[in-house]
Amino acid sequence: MYNFLVLNGPNLGHIGKRQPEIYGSDTLEDLPEILKNMMGDNASEISLDYFQANSEGAIIDRLEQAREKKVDGIAFNAGAYTHTSLAIADSLAWIKIPCVEVHISNVMARTEDPIRQQSLIGKQCIGVIAGFGILSYALAVQALYQRLKQK
Ligand code: DQA
Repeated sequence: MYNFLVLNGPNLGHIGKRQPEIYGSDTLEDLPEILKNMMGDNASEISLDYFQANSEGAIIDRLEQAREKKVDGIAFNAGAYTHTSLAIADSLAWIKIPCVEVHISNVMARTEDPIRQQSLIGKQCIGVIAGFGILSYALAVQALYQRLKQK
């Protein structure tokens, strides 16, 4: 059994309502069902915890807790902290849990805001999935599962 954490940063608690033209109409509550469907027969091999916080400190506390609980992998949408938070990058650097950077939107295509093309946390992640709407989370969990299974 693999224990994964789906972690969301600021302004992600209200996707579905927040700028649906960018982030779509699915909500975080839709995620467990989407994940279960994507994992298919392997769904019973994973357990998922979900956490969303708007503040940097709460996210870092949850990352430290994940280390203590020996979580196997993290699908992490840090929201705007992706682009700004050295503190979160520092946390990922020492807790050493495989982490996939997740974005609902295709941040590389959002050229109106060039800062979105920069990630401070990316260096501490095993990969990035962006641009697939709510499916980005499910793809990240699938990627973590496949990676750990190969080991
Ligand atoms: C986001 C992209 C970020 O640039 C933005 O600040 C978010 C959401 C995404 O999922 O597309 O809050 O991480």
